[in-house]
Amino acid sequence: MEAQTNNNGPGMDTTGLKPVIEIEHLKKAFGSNVVLRDFNLTIYAGQNMVVMGKSGIGKTILIKCIIGLIKPDGGTLRVLGQDISKLNHRELDELRMRIGFVFQSSALYDSMTIRENLAFPLRRSHGKITGTIEERVREVLGNVGLENTIDLMPSELSGGMRKRIGIARSLMLMPEIVLYDEPTTGLDPITSDEITHLIMDLQQKYKTTSVIITHDVELARIAANQIVFLKDGIAYQQGTYDEMVKTSDPDLKRFFKKTKDTQNG
Ligand SMILES: Nc1ncnc2c1ncn2[C@@H]1O[C@H](COP(=O)(O)OP(=O)(O)O)[C@@H](O)[C@H]1O
Ligand SMILES: [Mg+2]
Repeated sequence: MEAQTNNNGPGMDTTGLKPVIEIEHLKKAFGSNVVLRDFNLTIYAGQNMVVMGKSGIGKTILIKCIIGLIKPDGGTLRVLGQDISKLNHRELDELRMRIGFVFQSSALYDSMTIRENLAFPLRRSHGKITGTIEERVREVLGNVGLENTIDLMPSELSGGMRKRIGIARSLMLMPEIVLYDEPTTGLDPITSDEITHLIMDLQQKYKTTSVIITHDVELARIAANQIVFLKDGIAYQQGTYDEMVKTSDPDLKRFFKKTKDTQNG
């Protein structure tokens, strides 16, 4: 299948676009392990920002800071116009409802049906949802092509299907931002390709801003307006896919080549 690039264009012009995530001098250490040293990044409305970098380098920590699951040691983090560090519990909860999070493990509740798993984020708030919970559950299941799984248990689904359900769940509250943590890791190449295209379709449909952590060079090629390469606790390099692939930086070169080779078998 010939993959399409983002309609917004890989090098998407951000002039006049609203910044939705503004990260300045972000710091986070665990004891002597300095994970984020001085991380700076601005992500604009409608952008697909792909975050790459070696395992254990701090990618998940970065997006956990964005949703306030982890408290940074320093720097500022503005999300949808609000300084995360200045929010109380209720305000943080409200902000989180505007952000979808697709976990690396699909993080579905094994003892709940798919319907119950999807209804779960709505237990406290209906957010912007009109209509019933059942209608919304059916709608998001339709979005990911899995209407017929509504009464099944997660254990009855394949890895790729569970990933789709995780994506469907992130959409329940019509988020403005969706954060994906390695959405294609552990999936076969064909399923990865399907998930990549699903992410793109949903981004077009719901006009979200996406932050996608991945090692999947093909996902990055297809989805990214911008790629940021995280290394040594900083946004080591940022650019379009074409710019990143052409880089003369040995670390980046190895990363893109190695990941590609791994994927091709
Ligand atoms: N809760 C935690 N306590 C202590 N160290 C942690 C914690 N979470 C992550 N780390 C460390 O932070 C570093 C970055 O982790 P992570 O962001 O998960 O990496 P990745 O880039 O693979 O997503 C790793 O060295 C990890 O061991
Ligand atoms: Mg991670």
